Amino acid sequence: MDNSAQVYKKNIDLLKVKPNLTEYENTYKNFSWDNVRNELEWFPDGKINIAYNAVDRHLNSPRKDKIALYWEGDNAEKKQYTFADIARLSNQFGNFLKSRGVARGDRVFIFLPRIPYLYISFIGILKIGAIAGTLFSAFQEQALFDRLENSGAKVLITDKELAVRIQNVREKLPNLKEVVIVDDENFDNTIQSQSTDLAMEHMDQNDYAFMLYTSGTTGKPKGVVHRHYALLSEHLTAKYILDIHEEDIYWCTADPGWVTGIAYEILGSWSNGATEVVYSGRFSSEKWYQILADYKVTVWYTAPTAVRMLMASGDELVKKYDLSHLRHILSVGEPLNPEAIRWGLKVYGLAFHDTWWQTETGAMMLVNFPCNDIKLGSMGKPFLGITAEIVDDSGNGLGAKTEGHIAFKPGWPSMMQTIWQRQEKYDSYFVNGWYISGDRGWKDEDGYFWFIGRSDDVIKTSGERVGPFEVESALVEHPAVIEAGVIGKPDELRGEIIKAFVVLRPEFAQKVKDQAYAETLKQELAQHVKKHLAGHAYPREIEFIDKLPKTRSGKIMRRILKAKELGQPIGDTSTLEEY
Ligand code: WT7
Repeated sequence: MDNSAQVYKKNIDLLKVKPNLTEYENTYKNFSWDNVRNELEWFPDGKINIAYNAVDRHLNSPRKDKIALYWEGDNAEKKQYTFADIARLSNQFGNFLKSRGVARGDRVFIFLPRIPYLYISFIGILKIGAIAGTLFSAFQEQALFDRLENSGAKVLITDKELAVRIQNVREKLPNLKEVVIVDDENFDNTIQSQSTDLAMEHMDQNDYAFMLYTSGTTGKPKGVVHRHYALLSEHLTAKYILDIHEEDIYWCTADPGWVTGIAYEILGSWSNGATEVVYSGRFSSEKWYQILADYKVTVWYTAPTAVRMLMASGDELVKKYDLSHLRHILSVGEPLNPEAIRWGLKVYGLAFHDTWWQTETGAMMLVNFPCNDIKLGSMGKPFLGITAEIVDDSGNGLGAKTEGHIAFKPGWPSMMQTIWQRQEKYDSYFVNGWYISGDRGWKDEDGYFWFIGRSDDVIKTSGERVGPFEVESALVEHPAVIEAGVIGKPDELRGEIIKAFVVLRPEFAQKVKDQAYAETLKQELAQHVKKHLAGHAYPREIEFIDKLPKTRSGKIMRRILKAKELGQPIGDTSTLEEY
């Protein structure tokens, strides 16, 4: 906790484009959410709809025929859509859903790779007042079942390839009335035969708009629910932090299966009228640079793991592409190393701007403003209208240079509204009038916030949040496994990788004394998790052990597994059962 960080000084007069926000301290002091309500358009009856604000409001301006989406698939297949196209197609999608009996408040989930129908259906669902949910395309049977069951989803929108994964569990989902397959032969015609007129639902600002499942330490993933008013946070952060200008070409590399893709690849970016690029294919450094160059991307929002992968592919590669249009680059999801910022400055001539937020916060919270200096390694300062503090376990403010929980005063527009059907879980986030984030950190004397780590056992692998409980549950489904403890192990490239400590049934414990067999079984277990839970959430490392450290009440003490793994002191063991 020292103040000796390297500082990247800004001189806004030297920036290629004047930022939308040129002064932070006073703007922050004088800011009130009520004063910026009219950044959104409200219906004359005082109601609102996110979808109207993200898309249809642009139809009354020259933005109508502006490109909203440049889409590129895996085989260099390309499509483009104007705001008018997205408005029309989402109307038709909304009408289609209505014809299938979907009504206000129904949950409709999208389980698709990043194809245009993902974006179109998301907007269509919101227009008819239903609640939109997204499911990451790497999810497998168990992960899908848990989310569809808990949400009571009525309709699932998917494609032929992914639909296979719910075949076995569909009959256990009585609320799931319909599975819509968007690449069925006649589907395009079905959509195009719908009326292009849609009477958009007028929603109360607190009505639920979308939900996303995310993982904690314990239990199944929780359904974080956001309201229509959340768009105000997403809109303003996109305006002032992504710094979207009319002429920008914006590329967010996130997947709408996660909150970044929803907030900044659909909602906040489009509500600012951004022309955006979606690339749905696989990562390769060459391809990413090609996208940046081909589309003349100006604003780029990505993740530290991706930056580290680009770093690994070297400085020479960068020189092969014309990246001269880039003017503002940002990252989210995991700590951004000072090294990555220095490298960005060297090869792109630009500093990555770190942003901190969570599924639950719905929008950026701690941010590096385009107009502020960057302290390398810091997450920056609270966004406008956000009161951030470091607090102790009882929710008492700790002041500067003391480690504690990163906490916020509740009430910003995109603060989650509930955890679906788990009110007690929702309530547990709040202590002494603070929203407690689950992250630990500290702030310095200049009001910059610094990240220390999670206060729970949640794993961040390649920026994606994985709950150890889900992985452990998947492992114990395997016949060789009695129990498992899962931790995040620091990894240079991925931030963390998933490591599983596995206790085997006696007959298997015998067999793994043979090295070769042990290796085979490890691979089999990793595959098992991939196949049942999710392609991204499998243990890259597995270790067989005789016994897991547990509390006397039987809870796995993952922090002890972690301390041992890292060769650190194991700390307080007063609740530990004999180990
Ligand atoms: C967790 C939230 C919201 C964007 C995608 C992640 C970690 C997020 C940072 C950052 C260090 C970060 C935190 C947080 N995290 N941004 N800039 N520096 N850590 O959303 O899946 O809900 O994960 O990601 O641990 O709590 P999420």
